[in-house]
Amino acid sequence: MRRHIPLASLACLTMLSLAACGGGDADPASYPEDEITLVVPFSAGGPTDTVARLIAEPMAEELGADIVVQNVEGAGGTIAGGQVADADADGYEVLIHHIGMSTAPALYPDLAYSPLEDFKTVGLVTDVPMTIVARPDFEPETLEELVTYVKENADTVTLANAGVGAASQLCGLLIEQAVGVDLTEVPYDGTGPALTDLVGGQVDFMCDQTTNTASQIQAGEIKGYAVTTPEPVEALPDLPTTAEAGLPDVEVGVWHGLYVPADTPDEIVEKLTAALEVALEDQNVIDQMGTLGTTPVPAEDVTPEAHTAKLEEQIDLWTPIIEESGVTGG
Ligand code: MLT
Repeated sequence: MRRHIPLASLACLTMLSLAACGGGDADPASYPEDEITLVVPFSAGGPTDTVARLIAEPMAEELGADIVVQNVEGAGGTIAGGQVADADADGYEVLIHHIGMSTAPALYPDLAYSPLEDFKTVGLVTDVPMTIVARPDFEPETLEELVTYVKENADTVTLANAGVGAASQLCGLLIEQAVGVDLTEVPYDGTGPALTDLVGGQVDFMCDQTTNTASQIQAGEIKGYAVTTPEPVEALPDLPTTAEAGLPDVEVGVWHGLYVPADTPDEIVEKLTAALEVALEDQNVIDQMGTLGTTPVPAEDVTPEAHTAKLEEQIDLWTPIIEESGVTGG
């Protein structure tokens, strides 16, 4: 467990007054007094990292404290989840996680934490569409052609993802189920490095969030086949939806939220929620998200209540689908 010692507590220790130090616990009224760590469960430069860095600056400004982004990769995001679940409940370690928070309990029977019991929710952040994308010289030109191609070449086609528990893995699973194939999966610590390999032609195709793929599709560095949302994405007007292109069962939006350890005082959670709300109203954040094919969630969803309701609803949605697939992360 990482032990955070706020500046006020250090002052207490130098005065050698244990009574005044309060056991090193954070004082919610004076929070934050020190740097906050925003833990990202995937690689730097990937889609979750991008969202984290977009909100970190305006949140820091609102809170009056620095926010440092820390990438804790591995096991489809569950190592980061375990780290924050075990952190001091003082608001100095905050997790940003996505849909993987709701799929992890079904994917990892020995998961070291409970998403609902070991965290307090802070608020939802954004819903990011996914895209189905391929290396620039991959033969299929459309989603229809991709379906035919992977059926005929199932033993050689490679499908990249960010490990069991990642959004890319979930979306890839839906494609495999819809097409009726079992492809060779190539796992990475995040879709940041996976995209680099896709551009370089080392892997054939993958699902990934528009926050990572929009600019490469627009620049022609990768092929874009479809978006996985019911509605088209404004930033990618040439891409059909998966339903329009013949794969209606491949529908997945990647929602993100912020979490703190379960025992964190409500007063601290309220300060974080308020700062998140300010960040999501920041015009620069709105504009940058728009360029990346997403938007902040509406203000009514930037609450612990809306976030918990979403988490519960998504656990109920994905658990039977994952159990039926037989996929497991360990
Ligand atoms: C990432 O940040 O690398 C992604 O969110 C990974 C994924 O879930 O596919």
